Amino acid sequence: MRKKIVAGNWKCNTTLQEGIELAKAVSKNVTEKGAKDVKVILAPPFIHLTKVVENVNTDRISVSSQNCGTEPKGAYTGEVSAAMVKSTGATCVILGHSERRGYYGENSEILNKKLAQVLENGLTPIFCCGETLDIRESGKQNDFVKKQLDETVFQLSKEDFSKLILAYEPIWAIGTGKTASPAQAEDMLSFMRSLIAEKYGKEIAENTSILYGGSCNAKNAKELFSNPNIDGGLIGGAALKPDDFLAIINAY
Ligand code: PGA
Repeated sequence: MRKKIVAGNWKCNTTLQEGIELAKAVSKNVTEKGAKDVKVILAPPFIHLTKVVENVNTDRISVSSQNCGTEPKGAYTGEVSAAMVKSTGATCVILGHSERRGYYGENSEILNKKLAQVLENGLTPIFCCGETLDIRESGKQNDFVKKQLDETVFQLSKEDFSKLILAYEPIWAIGTGKTASPAQAEDMLSFMRSLIAEKYGKEIAENTSILYGGSCNAKNAKELFSNPNIDGGLIGGAALKPDDFLAIINAY
């Protein structure tokens, strides 16, 4: 059975001290009031990882980085390897977020190297895909997302693929307050699940958690999550507010 997941992507927000306070508040909420059947993931900036792991109830909350390097180690100034992420106690890595693809030129080749590092280190990739507004308006979103998946995660073996969490995040909905309608999100996630079934078989498709991301908040989460193929959310802005984040976790 696939899991219900709510993951908070803090992006480049919070100082270390603010991040510790946020992590503590989220952990208290989740421990005391959070739906027990929902897996909660927090993805703070790299430098917060160790402290966030120390300050949350790790029986209830998994910690993720938002990125990692392509290489295991060496002379790559400014990079953070998957092994380093693992050594903090984090267990997941977000890869392929549209902000990484768009602002930092991360293409499929780079993402495949990162995927290999994450999997080699026994971490769980939270792999993102999603189209721009132009592509959505031209009706080519399915072809676009299929190509993103074909070039990356669909290159993995069945065994490795089954370790992934996927997230569909239409770029036009990220941080814009413009959420995909529940029907648009459900259509895409059901399409993605059908592609997984074609490639890896029905069982793997049924067991893969696919999240929706893009202006998901305390108000719209319930309607989004009520769809059969939407297994949870990757939450940006609303993950910075502990009460809103709790409401999203409890939206099932
Ligand atoms: P948002 O971000 O919820 O602020 O739209 C989602 C994401 O980019 O992961």
